Amino acid sequence: MSKLPEGFLWGGAVAAHQFEGGWQQGGKGVSIADVMTAGSNTEPREITDGVLPGKNYPNHEAIDFYDHYKDDVKLFHELGLKCFRTSIAWTRIFPNGDEDEPNEAGLKFYDDLFDELHKYNIEPVITLSHFEMPYHLVKEYGGWRNRKLIDFFTKFATTVFKRYKDKVKYWMTFNEINNQTSMFNKWSVFTNSGLLAKPGEDLERAMFQASHYEVVASALAVQIGHKINPDFKIGAMFSNGPAYPLSPDPRNMMKSERTMQAAQWYADVQCKGKYPNWLKQYFARKHFDLDITLEDLDVLKAGTVDYIGFSYYASHAVQAVKDEADDYMTRAKDSEVQNPTLKASDWGWLIDPIGLRYALNWYSDRYDKPLFIVENGLGAFDKLEDGKIHDDYRISYLREHIKQMELAVNVDGVDLMGYTPWGFIDLVSAGTGQMDKRYGMIYVDKNDAGKGTMKRMKKDSFNWYQKVIASNGADLD
Ligand code: BG6
Repeated sequence: MSKLPEGFLWGGAVAAHQFEGGWQQGGKGVSIADVMTAGSNTEPREITDGVLPGKNYPNHEAIDFYDHYKDDVKLFHELGLKCFRTSIAWTRIFPNGDEDEPNEAGLKFYDDLFDELHKYNIEPVITLSHFEMPYHLVKEYGGWRNRKLIDFFTKFATTVFKRYKDKVKYWMTFNEINNQTSMFNKWSVFTNSGLLAKPGEDLERAMFQASHYEVVASALAVQIGHKINPDFKIGAMFSNGPAYPLSPDPRNMMKSERTMQAAQWYADVQCKGKYPNWLKQYFARKHFDLDITLEDLDVLKAGTVDYIGFSYYASHAVQAVKDEADDYMTRAKDSEVQNPTLKASDWGWLIDPIGLRYALNWYSDRYDKPLFIVENGLGAFDKLEDGKIHDDYRISYLREHIKQMELAVNVDGVDLMGYTPWGFIDLVSAGTGQMDKRYGMIYVDKNDAGKGTMKRMKKDSFNWYQKVIASNGADLD
């Protein structure tokens, strides 16, 4: 197996709200993640009306990276990371989101963190908005259904671009901006856009309006960032879980195509600078009458991204539902079906390494931009045996995905910047709020009940990934 290109960014990925803790330290404000309780793989998380007494909010403390960052970064260095993906918690910089001046203590925290990373030659890769917008913007302004959010976001982006212009080169605007359509449900529209259904409101319309303001805000941020430092690389970030047709029935193929279009249209807007035709037709057919101005369309054209960051965990299988209308847009439960050729994780996510190669080719063919796999991994239960965690299942998952990634680069010619496995240090699951859904190579002693010493320990996958990085992907044994 050939190695990857020189300078390939091997790394690890996390997000502020899922691992920092310190939810009230350094003047931080309440984020939307702070009002989500812990769930399980059967019970959904609850979104509460503010922070309520007696509820378990796992993101408040998370793994307390806020107080452990020096020791943790030392471990990241030992692992051999070339880059480290995290987000800047918006609420550390603008606690409510609508202040005139930023919070100096929050800015200082990231200054110190970036200095610590550079001490070990670890390149920070920064997401601006990763499911953690200020809760105040939801309560006061209705979240991203309000155009004012564009100004609040660009102010936040400008502040951190200026402050860290010599410390951070790689940025992404909105994490998995497309989750809100592909997994259209209460939690994804809340985590992406801070939307909570209002009585009588068409939530789908609200989601498209919010999405439009977000792509405009992203395009403005790209332009602002490039002015502040022309060397910045500013990417978009999508979730890609390919939707395969269940069978060669042409209707299933059409369903698969439409499911991909509906989930990935943001890539058309953020990479090509314009809305796809099918979606313009859809807006008209639904009489959405969205607030999309001619000026917005110019902004979109001028603010296309430098690269595509994306997450890949699993693929899906779809079929056209019975008597499906010609637009194949029906959001029906029975259009997503089991794929009999694949096994699933303990959380029911299908394990499909070839799907990663497919996703890489899918973006590469359409957008001709450098790609960056910024999330991939297996959420699993780990067992401590004599103080060790033998996570061969995780090693096997990562090995098979890296093999496919290498084929995409060396056989298919995909231009790939790097690979950052998700949650390489155990953290709070975004979907379920659990600690015991673990992705890490570094174990953190804390469980779903919030109990534990917080001690960090290397799993077997730590030693394995260390060799992978040191050999630039040649040694996968
Ligand atoms: C992505 C998110 O959806 O998947 C992460 O960007 C998230 O924030 C990850 O943690 C894994 O999902 P989960 O629900 O297992 O945490």
